Amino acid sequence: MTAVGFDAPGGPDVLRPVTVPVPRPGPGEVLVKVAFAGVNRPDVVQRQGKYPPPPGASPIPGLEISGRVAVLGEGVTEFLPGQAVCALVSGGGYAEYCLAKAAHCLPVPEGLGLDEAAALPETLFTVWHNVFERGYARDGETLLVHGGTSGIGTMAAMLGKHFGLTVIVTCGSGEKCARALEIGAAHAIDYKACDFVEEVARITGGRGVDIVLDMVGGDYVARNLKCLAPDGRHVTIAVQGGAKAEINMAVVMTRRYTLTGSTLRARSDAFKGLLAQEILANAWPLVEEGELRPVMDARFALGEAAAAHARMEAGDHVGKIVLEI
Ligand SMILES: NC(=O)c1ccc[n+]([C@@H]2O[C@H](COP(=O)([O-])OP(=O)(O)OC[C@H]3O[C@@H](n4cnc5c(N)ncnc54)[C@H](OP(=O)(O)O)[C@@H]3O)[C@@H](O)[C@H]2O)c1
Repeated sequence: MTAVGFDAPGGPDVLRPVTVPVPRPGPGEVLVKVAFAGVNRPDVVQRQGKYPPPPGASPIPGLEISGRVAVLGEGVTEFLPGQAVCALVSGGGYAEYCLAKAAHCLPVPEGLGLDEAAALPETLFTVWHNVFERGYARDGETLLVHGGTSGIGTMAAMLGKHFGLTVIVTCGSGEKCARALEIGAAHAIDYKACDFVEEVARITGGRGVDIVLDMVGGDYVARNLKCLAPDGRHVTIAVQGGAKAEINMAVVMTRRYTLTGSTLRARSDAFKGLLAQEILANAWPLVEEGELRPVMDARFALGEAAAAHARMEAGDHVGKIVLEI
């Protein structure tokens, strides 16, 4: 089969078509004939050589796919050959066929395009776990999300709104702020034009937000804590602005903050299976009813994976980029 991989880390141009054997599903796995693969920032970081695949994962990039079940592994009873599914995978998505754990697949409902289906798992699993499970988001609370027009940020704004949160986002331009408001954010702050800490204080009448979903790290962390109300939760999912942060622990103590974070890819299969169950029960009904759809930015052919990565790195995209296989 044809896949897209790279020999050595580098710029988008290192991505090239390779011919590799079609993988065979083991017990509990399905082989999916891939229709679309989502492109995520972690794929870009992997290609740059800064995010190696965890042990046992395919070196081919691609963390989410949609397509039709081609072969069932031993013991798989939840799906039928030919059924449309989307799946969270630990790698190997940029290919004609990809292995997925049956427990990490979600059935694609009527009315959801396979392009859209491929754009859901990575952000849905990440946002659900970090905002609702680690951040304990509750109806009526306020959530601050950086990267409001990113794949993750758009999902956080939409999902947060569905579950009764007031979502404030930051974005790097006025245009992106306008898009974020259309997508579901209640407020959007252009962080290049003003100080987001002051803006959050103004928007919340000085109270602050209950949760920050942070993908920046570095000096944002101390500033994020200034945005948090007492008992606030700070959830780190990326450190694009630097891994080290200096914070005042006395403030953490007196305002009773919780600092947490996680990375999805390295979690156990069992954990991801449980998370899939939570999502099927709580968020997937919104997808089935047509109330939750990913924000789609652009589609590229598999052979244009380099252009898809270049688009993501340029940072002008809003929502999700997918590869058509
Ligand atoms: N922990 C996990 O399990 C997990 C899972 C998936 C993704 N992630 C991480 O989540 C982030 C988003 O992923 P994605 O696939 O949605 O990527 P994406 O669409 O490329 O989004 C990246 C976003 O980061 C924002 N950003 C970058 N530097 C910034 C800065 N200094 N200040 C404020 N915003 C900044 C950009 O916003 P502007 O253009 O508005 O500046 C952009 O919207 C990535 O860092 C990714 O690695 C983590």
